[in-house]
Amino acid sequence: MAQGSEVQRGLEDVVALESRICFIDGKEGRLIYRGYDIRELAAHATFEEVAYLLWYGRLPTASQLAELRGRLASLRTIPPELARQLDALPADAPPMDVLRTAVSALAVFEPGETSPGPSSIGGAQRLTAALPTILGTYHRRRAHLPPLEARPELSHAAYLAYALLDRAPSELEARAIDVALILHADHDLNASTFAARVTASTLSDLYSAVTSAVGALKGPLHGGANERVLDLLDEIGELERADEVVRGKLARHERIMGFGHRVYKVEDPRATILREWSRKIGESKGDLRYYRLLQRVVEVVHREKGLYPNIDLYSGSVYALIGIPRDLFTPVFAASRVVGWTAHVLEEYDDLRLIRPRSQYVGPTDLSWTPIGDRK
Ligand code: SDX
Repeated sequence: MAQGSEVQRGLEDVVALESRICFIDGKEGRLIYRGYDIRELAAHATFEEVAYLLWYGRLPTASQLAELRGRLASLRTIPPELARQLDALPADAPPMDVLRTAVSALAVFEPGETSPGPSSIGGAQRLTAALPTILGTYHRRRAHLPPLEARPELSHAAYLAYALLDRAPSELEARAIDVALILHADHDLNASTFAARVTASTLSDLYSAVTSAVGALKGPLHGGANERVLDLLDEIGELERADEVVRGKLARHERIMGFGHRVYKVEDPRATILREWSRKIGESKGDLRYYRLLQRVVEVVHREKGLYPNIDLYSGSVYALIGIPRDLFTPVFAASRVVGWTAHVLEEYDDLRLIRPRSQYVGPTDLSWTPIGDRK
């Protein structure tokens, strides 16, 4: 091991590479995609514009955006072989396992999109377009809903919502999902993006890199937290029980899902934006129960532990109020983050360096061989 370097558990604050994609200021609570503040993008952009920005490094012109929209809409269908494979999966399979399986299988059915290098932008757009169809095909079968139609007139966000509901979303609901997709699209070297870059750094293909990323995002310390926030709200039930339930968990050293962050030392700016959407959608449905419960939990956790909300705290309440099933919250996260994963994979291919850190070996080094008959 390189002399003098000390172990940074979890690679905390280790700077592994240079990137032009995303900047997080953890002290100030700022998030920048390719130079643009996330608050500007959430206020003015669409998910397709942000996808273009992350992939190509600049905002699209009107014709470039129209072309990308058309391309994504044309790439929504999945091969019949994959649809049959989805049908063969158990109806109670965890959706993130379904997603991981489908991404991996798509590479087998469409090998042309998987050669490492700049041409992988085709695979990036293919996967981004297909994920809502994969999720919708799986969900509609298990929910006994009518099969998906192409619906090319729907934006990416609206199509994703339509794929997971039994109806097209309202304008407000579609915009809420659009903003949520923008907020989840990239986040520097978070665990799943780092998993994608490590895979790409070996010159493996884009689909393998995304398969690695899906596996990492599933974990409750990462993307899996949004579903568990709603489990917490169910457990609390009434506003008056929030203090007791949260303090009990903290006393047992349990993690409160949706709080804390490895980089942000103040409120996650994405949580700030999603809080407003949780309120807006709640008001539109005449149901502010989640919003009020979340506000109370924020007060208790900050008072007791000094922790701030992260993006996962509010996203689930928005999805639940729109009617998206809880076990699909993390797959919705993946349907957005696939843009960030693939943007980082393309950047890795463009300036490739095998990612291979060291460990500090703390075991023995001079043991002698013991014949099996003499071992105890
Ligand atoms: C995402 O990295 C990214 O960018 C991720 C993400 C993205 O966009 O990709 O932002 C998305 O994954 C958001 C995080 C979603 N996960 C959760 O909400 C799960 C709950 N949060 C935690 O498990 C935790 O905050 C992490 C994993 C997010 C970050 O943990 P760290 O940086 O490893 O912090 P730590 O475990 O060293 O904790 C430091 C202290 C500890 O207290 P002590 O034991 O020292 O007394 O803070 C405590 C922890 O116990 N702590 C929490 C807590 N988070 C940290 N205590 C209770 N509840 C929590 N949520």
